[in-house]
Amino acid sequence: MLKGKHIVLGITGSIAAYKAAYLLRLLVKKGAEVQVVMTPAAKEFITPVTLSPLSGKPVVSEFFAANDGQWHSHVDLGLWADAMLIAPATAASIGKMAHGVADNMLITTYLSMKAPVFVSPAMDLDMYKHPSTQANLKLLQTYGNHIIEPGFGELASGLEGKGRMEEPEAIVAYLENYFAKSADMKGEKVLITAGPTYEKIDPVRFIGNYSSGKMAYALAEVCAQRGAEVYLVSGPVALETPAGNIHRIDVESAEEMYQACIEHFPSCQTAILCAAVADYRVAEISDNKIKREESGELSLHLLPNKDIAAALGERKQPSQYLLGFALETHNESQHAEAKLRRKNLDAIVLNSLQDQGAGFRHDTNKVSILSAEERLDFPLKTKKEVASDIIDYILKNRKNK
Ligand code: CTP
Repeated sequence: MLKGKHIVLGITGSIAAYKAAYLLRLLVKKGAEVQVVMTPAAKEFITPVTLSPLSGKPVVSEFFAANDGQWHSHVDLGLWADAMLIAPATAASIGKMAHGVADNMLITTYLSMKAPVFVSPAMDLDMYKHPSTQANLKLLQTYGNHIIEPGFGELASGLEGKGRMEEPEAIVAYLENYFAKSADMKGEKVLITAGPTYEKIDPVRFIGNYSSGKMAYALAEVCAQRGAEVYLVSGPVALETPAGNIHRIDVESAEEMYQACIEHFPSCQTAILCAAVADYRVAEISDNKIKREESGELSLHLLPNKDIAAALGERKQPSQYLLGFALETHNESQHAEAKLRRKNLDAIVLNSLQDQGAGFRHDTNKVSILSAEERLDFPLKTKKEVASDIIDYILKNRKNK
């Protein structure tokens, strides 16, 4: 997977920098072409003399070469690379990356980078745990960077905890896995519904729900990263459209969502119905704001909305795969299994509001995937990781259909 790949290996000033030599050797052995970029502090821990023979290229560290004044172009590196890997990444460099403090060659290269960026933190456990570091890592994730979580173990300080740079073999495996998956949905179209729907009561009020759209947007991001063209039919959410080949279709009501899905489903191989669609709409939407003094006690007459999942289930061709979601509060499995059958889904992702950290508005989720044949239970993970698990599941099971 790494053969012929251009990798910028960024090394920052951590004791773990000595492991970067081994990491570099592994990458080169796998056939990657590696350009090392070091921060000035990194050179206190490992010298360019060790690294340049291993990579077969002069190490870049300053903006200009000391001997002839030649400019080292971070812009060119940003265009040349297929990936940038920063290992080890110190708390200071992570902070600079998060906030654009471009005071060395490595950070300018990071800011110019067009390719995906992988960050492998290395620091003492308290530094890693500190809210500042955690907030900066979260920021990097919002930029689309991949964080290779540090391991648990003995640290240079003599303390034990989380903060050890991940082992070079595991970092290489992470990259290989990324490249293997970066194209496994190439050429396919995926329909994803997201967020809540708003059903108008009058010009200023609506019936809605707590859905944030985070799970669906994570799914859209993962599908796009894996090469798919995504049709993201989104109810009102406060989220940015993730990077990649994503057509976002903003809708408000269940009816609008239904229309958009019916239009795009025939050209899609997969549909993931993640939206929390309102089951009812108001029979008569008031043209004017309903006034309290004039209305007194108020009853709303509600009509059932169309079931988008069931409508797509009816139209589904043998080559198409349909996955739904079920957020339940009680008798979870029975309800999810009933929906799977009723809507003619291939699989349904169950999350329970009884699980801490699962469901609406959280950045994490704990899900089970149910199909007619099996049930898989997953631990609590970030929504991005859950999205990857769901896509892995779809790709594996679609083949067996
Ligand atoms: N769904 C849909 N259109 C609807 C209602 C639900 O597409 N009008 C989809 C959801 O996106 C989800 C699945 O159906 O993938 C299950 O949604 P849920 O609200 O749990 O199911 P309902 O059929 O509405 O059942 P209930 O609200 O009674 O639990």
